[in-house]
Amino acid sequence: MGAGVQAKSQVTTVRLVTEETLENLLTETRHFPPSAEFVAQANVGLELYDEAIADRLGFWDRQAGRLKWDKSWTEVLDWSDAPFAKWFVGGRLNVAVNCVDRHVDEGFGDQVAIYFEGEPGDTREITYAMLKDEVCRAANALAELGVGKGDRVAIYLPMIPEAVISMLACARLGAAHSVVFGGFSAEALRSRIEDAQAKVVITSDGGYRRGSATALKPAVDEAVSKSPCVERVLVVRRTGQEVAWTDRDLWWHEFVDTQSPDHTPEFFDSEQQLFILYTSGTTGQPKGIVHTSGGYLTQAAYTHDVVFDHKPGKDVYWCTADVGWVTGHSYIVYGPLANRATQVMYEGTPDTPHKGRWWEICEKYGVTILYTAPTAIRTFAKWGHEIPGQFDLSKIRLLGSVGEPINPAAWMWYRRVIGGDRCPIVDTWWQTETGAIMISPLPGATTCTPGSAMSALPGIVANIVDDNGNYVHETEGGYLVLSEPWPAMLRGIWGDEERFRETYWSQFPGKYFAGDGAKFDVNGAIWVLGRVDDVMNVSGHRISTAEVESALVSHDAVAEAAVVGATDETTGQAIVAFVILREHAEVSDDTVEDARKHVATEIGAIAKPKRILIVKELPKTRSGKIMRRLLRDVAENRSLGDVTTLADPAVMGLIQTGLASGATDED
Ligand code: WT7
Repeated sequence: MGAGVQAKSQVTTVRLVTEETLENLLTETRHFPPSAEFVAQANVGLELYDEAIADRLGFWDRQAGRLKWDKSWTEVLDWSDAPFAKWFVGGRLNVAVNCVDRHVDEGFGDQVAIYFEGEPGDTREITYAMLKDEVCRAANALAELGVGKGDRVAIYLPMIPEAVISMLACARLGAAHSVVFGGFSAEALRSRIEDAQAKVVITSDGGYRRGSATALKPAVDEAVSKSPCVERVLVVRRTGQEVAWTDRDLWWHEFVDTQSPDHTPEFFDSEQQLFILYTSGTTGQPKGIVHTSGGYLTQAAYTHDVVFDHKPGKDVYWCTADVGWVTGHSYIVYGPLANRATQVMYEGTPDTPHKGRWWEICEKYGVTILYTAPTAIRTFAKWGHEIPGQFDLSKIRLLGSVGEPINPAAWMWYRRVIGGDRCPIVDTWWQTETGAIMISPLPGATTCTPGSAMSALPGIVANIVDDNGNYVHETEGGYLVLSEPWPAMLRGIWGDEERFRETYWSQFPGKYFAGDGAKFDVNGAIWVLGRVDDVMNVSGHRISTAEVESALVSHDAVAEAAVVGATDETTGQAIVAFVILREHAEVSDDTVEDARKHVATEIGAIAKPKRILIVKELPKTRSGKIMRRLLRDVAENRSLGDVTTLADPAVMGLIQTGLASGATDED
């Protein structure tokens, strides 16, 4: 089947998933220019676009000048081995020095880098000078464990400062970190450790979540017992809960805290690997996205400056993401710290101990820039404006959104209730693969339309193409592509060159295919509509249907499974699974519940299906491909679409009659 044919069937998916967005797109007439006051103090204005258009590589050359290099580069971009890019060729730098030492050397050692707020209410104030000492101690400790340039270290931690310190310590040594989100299961952790062949794992006894201590170490113990590559496990004591112990384990407070706070950094090539971060694709096997140093840090710092209008030493910045996702990498660790930000880091959930916790934190620290996800905004909107209304949010001057399309209603609520009708909102589109923000308003220049990420940032070239790869124009839709290489772009998929070429570069030759559908509105603004592949977006988390399906069929009772992302008011999409049970299995709520739990064990709680429907057949095309579109119709309780391409059209009837045996669950 040619790419065009396949693409065509995918467009239908986009339309179905985003009906609300599209409707709004046709009727949206609200536009919000920045206030004169904001424009007057903005870091950059419209002229930045002209500058980048006039000489794109010259523009990036100047942006790289934001960083401290030990040795300058000889060439901005080497694209001769496309799709493998080299940026700032021959340049040498140390990423950790750029994020920490540099600011201390320039006299800002006393500036707070991190205001840490633990879920139970404990706090830590970490200055840049303190951060430097901590990063050096951790680097010395890792070096003593034999970690050096080119090694991999897995990090499985809650949202505590040691997560940031560990990442920077790896960067300081030229070792790549692979942060695994603390919500992932032992099995998901194991597969990531093995794939990257990590030699050290950094974890903690546990972390605080929803008012209690949640264990992390048992998952590491299980994962490591099956991963011979791991030599040592470094354990932060966070909760004080009991942990099992082996000779492999070392306590952070014993082994790291006793190290010297001095460490002489080495400088590494601009293309030195900085991290691997796993993300879901269309198969059951997550992809290890590889990022390198100079280009990545340049674009992370540039975007954090121009998109968030950040003023070092003045702003109090808060990105609510977890460090386990790329947003945490680029906009908690690398971008903000390169730009000498003072930021808030919060460990827990938004409703612990009360639903106003975030707003209490904003008031307490005087947060000026808040970067969060649409799913959180919709949850707060559901809880009611009275809750944030009890807190002083007047210091906030800019709001950001990321992770999924923000529907205009949520955008308006965010602007009015959290932003007091005065703050610009930057809806930022990017991906684990892009490394940094690609499409976003410039807050001091762009007139925003609620629901639209607006346009490619200066230096970035994004287009929308049709099935044949031709550019589409105003009011038309198609596939979002990136037509020119960018500094923070992924440098490949760890250990799988072919998959890298195939996934991103084969649909539209010469262009990066992002996997998203998009549309230009009448004014030429870009509306990102959502994934066109078999990837779901649940609360801004990327989960593949194939991954959940393979977890389900590894359960004893399950013979076959098909998973779809059904539109959900709060989480964007919700996971709905259709399963055929094995002969011996009992059709019962217990079986369904057990299968749901099994997915949590295999992948993590975030991948647990919201509903599992037991069916007798699954709708398939003659070639055996599951027709997810039809399943989505059922999952969203819509009338059925065209079923004429089904191998057995009667199957849908069977599915619907089987619905009575399906269980639903709200957690
Ligand atoms: C996918 C990437 C980027 C960090 C968080 C997610 C969706 C992301 C937006 C946005 C519409 C968005 C896309 C993209 N997405 N931001 N502002 N508007 N969609 O990173 O897990 O790599 O997921 O998230 O579908 O492809 P990720």
